[in-house]
Amino acid sequence: MYAIEKIQKEIKEELSKILNINEEEIMINFFTNFGDFSVPLFKISKSKNISLNELEKILKEKIKIDFFDKITFDNGYMNFYLNFDNFSNLVFEDFKRLKEKYGEMNIGKGKRIIIDYSSPNIGKPLGISHLRSTIIGDSLYRIFKFLGYKVIRINHLGDWGLQYGQLIYAYKHWLNKKNFEKNPVKELLRLYVKFNKELKQNPSLNEEAKKIFARLEKGDKELIKIWNVLRKISLKEFKKIYKLLGISFDYYFGESFFVKEAKKIIEEAKNKGIAKEKDGMVFIELNNLIPLIIQKSDESTLYATRDLAAAKYRLKRWKPEKILYVVGNDQKLYFEQLFSALKILGYDCDYQHVNFGLILFKGKLSTRKGKIIFLEEIIKKAIEKAKGLIKTDLKEKEKIAKKIGIGAIKFNDLSQNREKDVEFSFEKILNMFGRSCPYLQYTYVRANSVLKKVKKIKYVKPEFKEKEEIELIKRISLFPEIIKESAKNYQPYLIANYLYDLSKDFHKFYETLPILKSKEKDSRLLLVKFTSIVIKNGLYLLGIDTVDRM
Ligand code: ARG
Repeated sequence: MYAIEKIQKEIKEELSKILNINEEEIMINFFTNFGDFSVPLFKISKSKNISLNELEKILKEKIKIDFFDKITFDNGYMNFYLNFDNFSNLVFEDFKRLKEKYGEMNIGKGKRIIIDYSSPNIGKPLGISHLRSTIIGDSLYRIFKFLGYKVIRINHLGDWGLQYGQLIYAYKHWLNKKNFEKNPVKELLRLYVKFNKELKQNPSLNEEAKKIFARLEKGDKELIKIWNVLRKISLKEFKKIYKLLGISFDYYFGESFFVKEAKKIIEEAKNKGIAKEKDGMVFIELNNLIPLIIQKSDESTLYATRDLAAAKYRLKRWKPEKILYVVGNDQKLYFEQLFSALKILGYDCDYQHVNFGLILFKGKLSTRKGKIIFLEEIIKKAIEKAKGLIKTDLKEKEKIAKKIGIGAIKFNDLSQNREKDVEFSFEKILNMFGRSCPYLQYTYVRANSVLKKVKKIKYVKPEFKEKEEIELIKRISLFPEIIKESAKNYQPYLIANYLYDLSKDFHKFYETLPILKSKEKDSRLLLVKFTSIVIKNGLYLLGIDTVDRM
């Protein structure tokens, strides 16, 4: 248990004993302007049916907790003021015990969680809009792993469906073989765009595509062969980018993997009396939502049918505590339908649609209009620009620029509430003086440059008197709470914001107080070391590497 958890526990136990109430009824705010810990009493006074005055009197009389210098009552709040010597000691004990592992927990021990993320569609390059899912999913993977969960990472490739009927149609009619051999990904994109353009002029093309897809689903050998080629090319391209980003998966089960099972789900729904049929179409009726179609009139399966089968498979194989789907806001209604249908089918679980907004990069991106921005180009450009932040004489410039450039892209995405749209510009993400990744990486460099000057750090009993020291140790002590909170809400930005605040606290400390030449040298050095570990672990949770120099 971490220092901050111990104190919370103490407060809760004590109050619940005195007042004879459940610990869940007691809320605790940290480090507010009133008191270091603060408990609102309104609700308690209501539920116990005694006046605030009465409540305060009882508490004043009976409360007896260590750690605190004083306890006050103000406007319906009970405020606890820490004794910072005791508190710093307690936090440093955590540090001594865990060192590089500070922040890790085992609350997820023995539990499994599945994260479905990235999941791009084959036949198209990975666009910047799929970047968000990839980055958010990877961060959530790290956060839950840090909490002790066993995390299963799945890339639910979009490799089945009508669009492959369309693509195969285009491939068969318009392929430029030479270009395909030179740059297959680009040629596939050209085909995709061309099909959509032609479709506008000639809507009957879709009928052709539907026929092709229906044949594909029935196992037509020639079509399967073409499909395999398309899939392989795309997958190779995706993996190249994942490698660049330092992101990986445990399984690549595409939608195609679930076609057979999807057919079975249709039968199952019919047999259970859940499915209705109309003109060959099959659908499941849902409470307060539009019905979920699970079979088209030509008997082929849909995205939803394959998702039902995938969920069933996951439950059976892993018995997870939760399944997270990291997918954009535009599929909000779809996931409500899907989860509701799964419940009706008897496959319930804690399903979560971890939704997110767009990346605004000079207007909404859309491959369909042919205005695609290639992810790889963006990443390479960020790395190139990152070189401008590095002192020219560094030998490892290339390697460091890669960490800064990729970190900047990831941090931009993770540093605000995921449900909102995020703006992207190179100026913003690489701004050393803003809320940016280079700023955090620089904090780490600064801390390390101090640490490099000493041979060994002595473990002393800290006695912090200065405001800057106290603010810093308070911030550090919050790290475990922030991780839990960000896991609870599936919101990595809580960690990102925290790291920014920590950096600011550190710079204030560093700029105000002498370290190596002071008589508090040892305890201040410990504080520097501690900060550097928290920054490193925090950035790790966002999928970002630290650098030793820049
Ligand atoms: N391939 C889909 C798309 O790009 C995302 C799939 C998300 N995962 C899922 N199980 N539905 O829109």
